[in-house]
Amino acid sequence: MQLTQKNLLGIKDLSINDIQTILQTSTHFKEILQRVSKQLPSLRDLTVVNLFYENSTRTRISFELAEKRLGASIINFTTSGSSSAKGETLLDTVKNILRMKVDMVVVRHSASGVPHFLAKQTNAIIINAGDGTNEHPTQALQDAYSIQEKFGKIEGVKVAIIGDILHSRVAPSNIYLLTKMGAEVMICAPPTLLPKYLKEAFPLIHIEYDLEKTLRWCDVANVLRIQLERQNQPLFSSLREYNLSYGIKKNILHRIDKEIVIMHPGPINRGVEIDSDIADSEQSIILDQVENGVAIRMGVIYLFSGSPIAVNTK
Ligand code: CP
Repeated sequence: MQLTQKNLLGIKDLSINDIQTILQTSTHFKEILQRVSKQLPSLRDLTVVNLFYENSTRTRISFELAEKRLGASIINFTTSGSSSAKGETLLDTVKNILRMKVDMVVVRHSASGVPHFLAKQTNAIIINAGDGTNEHPTQALQDAYSIQEKFGKIEGVKVAIIGDILHSRVAPSNIYLLTKMGAEVMICAPPTLLPKYLKEAFPLIHIEYDLEKTLRWCDVANVLRIQLERQNQPLFSSLREYNLSYGIKKNILHRIDKEIVIMHPGPINRGVEIDSDIADSEQSIILDQVENGVAIRMGVIYLFSGSPIAVNTK
């Protein structure tokens, strides 16, 4: 199972075949994760550093768990308690860690392009765990996996991505992946939360400003968090008004009189982009996305490590 890329920098670089290979491999790992004994020895010769320069719960824990399930040796780096507080550069930090015989770097950073920079400057295998507003490839893979699990396919499924697209790295990765795999994609947000050149960058998408029209159109609503920490000027009048116009609520879902699947990459701002009763409802597959994140990250680490050992599903 050969991939076209040495590093996972973004979905933009992956071929359709790469994506299918990752999804299929992750299906084997998902089966293994249902067993009492979930531990595999496949990657016991691999050493991975999880380099998190930005906060994370789901991505950091699921990468760590995936690496442990595959038997890899792991090191966890966070800026707190590290020498980056003394002014050490990112590259010096990474070069020092790699000199300790580390093979793979899983990196999250608030600056777009950090994984690409590390891929140019080092020989390690680089896996992007989210870079600025650029991409979050493993999130898109777990989202697509969850859609495939629910609908039995990705092609032809109508997916609406709703919310703060401007500050999102989940949105671009999802758009790349879903359009490559033949899904239909609609973006819905207030104009101030849309990047200027969205249609030029992604000619295949539909753009809609009206939430009710979007929900009537879609099979899946992937709802994104309002990223207040990345907004340095007000982009809408108040969180309450955002919730009234763009929040996923019981009354609007009743009005459209149609069962749609609700997704959210997390963390959720309850009562802002989605109300609690919807996030926790039978329509929601938010926790399935989280569960699938471990299998996807096992698939990604396994495939990008170039391991020649076949996945043992027995
Ligand atoms: N979805 C996601 O990336 O969540 P974390 O920031 O908690 O990793």
